[in-house]
Amino acid sequence: MKTYITTAIPYVNGVPHLGHAEDYLLADIAARYMRMRGDEVRFQVGTDEHGNKIEKKAAELGKEVKAYVDENSEKFKEFIKKLGVEYTDFIRTTDKAHEELVQKIWEKLGSHIYKSDYEGWYCEGCERFVTDNEYKENNGVCPDHQKPYEHLSESNYYFKVSDFKETIKAKIESDELKILPEFRKNEILKLLADTPDVSISRPKAHLKWGVDVPGDDEQVMYVWMDALSNYITVLGYPNKDISDYWPATVQVVGKDILRFHAILWPAMLLGLGLPLPKTLLCHGFILANGQKMSKSIGNVVDPIEVLEKHGLDAFRYYFSRHIDTFTDSDFTWDKYEDAYNNELANDYGNLVQRLSNLCSKNGVDKAFLEKRKILESGSFRNTWDSDDAEYKTYMDNFEFTKGIEYAWSKISAVNKRIEDTKPWSVAKENPEEAKVLLSSLVGDLLNANEMLKPFLPIANTVEVIFTSEKIEPPKTPLFPKEFKK
Ligand code: MSP
Repeated sequence: MKTYITTAIPYVNGVPHLGHAEDYLLADIAARYMRMRGDEVRFQVGTDEHGNKIEKKAAELGKEVKAYVDENSEKFKEFIKKLGVEYTDFIRTTDKAHEELVQKIWEKLGSHIYKSDYEGWYCEGCERFVTDNEYKENNGVCPDHQKPYEHLSESNYYFKVSDFKETIKAKIESDELKILPEFRKNEILKLLADTPDVSISRPKAHLKWGVDVPGDDEQVMYVWMDALSNYITVLGYPNKDISDYWPATVQVVGKDILRFHAILWPAMLLGLGLPLPKTLLCHGFILANGQKMSKSIGNVVDPIEVLEKHGLDAFRYYFSRHIDTFTDSDFTWDKYEDAYNNELANDYGNLVQRLSNLCSKNGVDKAFLEKRKILESGSFRNTWDSDDAEYKTYMDNFEFTKGIEYAWSKISAVNKRIEDTKPWSVAKENPEEAKVLLSSLVGDLLNANEMLKPFLPIANTVEVIFTSEKIEPPKTPLFPKEFKK
């Protein structure tokens, strides 16, 4: 089966922060899981590089805009690689190919676009106009960006979202466009009902850094129109037939940008005659001590520091298990250290060390495991349909925190079984029986380990340890106790 997974493309008016990791990790877990199940996965990541706030930030720093976005886009690319994300496509909205394709998309949407004068309130941080009601409710200040709304009066092009509202509503209600988690669905249906037509261009007098509107020298495309299109221009639309990969299996977005993906984006797709994505997976925010991370509060955590402290698997472990897939969750160094020491190093690292050591001492090797049919394909791989159907259900529904918790319960069960059966004592009485017991424990571990693979790249190393000709404990523990800080 061909599968397409996408991630939100971050603005490059700054360097990656901890929050950005969430889109990439969730998408990568989905991608790894789907590949394990035999899918051919296409997986897009990229950077969103147009718009006022990027233009302004570059000017503030005295940099040429293109040089500035080149520099920051590269930082995101490095960050994504450091997270072990196995993407297939990296798109930048300043790519010439993307710009040309977006212009073609605009032309194709022609019958749903009209020009009109506009007067209203705009938040540059959100890059969107707010309604008069929102303006009043928020007392004129954007709650997300803590900045007063700007009053704009300009002549813009509009996209007739109204042409598609009924269809979008029906598709969301019937789950043909599935919004996860469920509670976000009603939020969106309410917003949809109140959504006016969307302004999709800005006069060049107000915004220069963008894609030109075809056939109008005075106007530049609205950044969201340009950005959302990336999901299909990266596949070559409209020049290429994209039906192998479109509709996307899952599009991963944060809660702040779900509205664009669940209203404007479906309207654009319907206008183009394309099917809607199957699932929008919406995650919450990563907080620091219950508060939103922000530069002004001074509680922003550098993701590179977190990655370097205990390595990639610790990072991925914490973000999979302790940052809930769907709701806001806290990152604190204390919680991070606890999870590393008590769970990764103790439950998993020590188990691998201990069991490989017992195998090595008692002569359990690959030949013996094969004789006991432990390594036969199907014995520990993809037993999810039967023995571990619960895991499969979680993973198929993108409930990754529950998926890793289930896998961990199996790791804990192996630890308990070792404690209960005491193979070292059995070895003293009956070495052959101890070997049989150990081989069965290896089977249990490999099975649990298989379920950890979408989350932790180190699970592949663990598999190699137990499937080598001779089983040897790793020379240095998988999760050393000494800290770098
Ligand atoms: N450029 C737009 C997205 C365009 S997609 C066609 C944008 N960029 S962003 O840099 O502001 O955000 C990128 C992603 O990071 C979004 O999914 C957003 O929700 C996510 N996060 C930003 N801060 C976050 C946290 N503190 N926690 C979790 N994710 C958050 O929006």
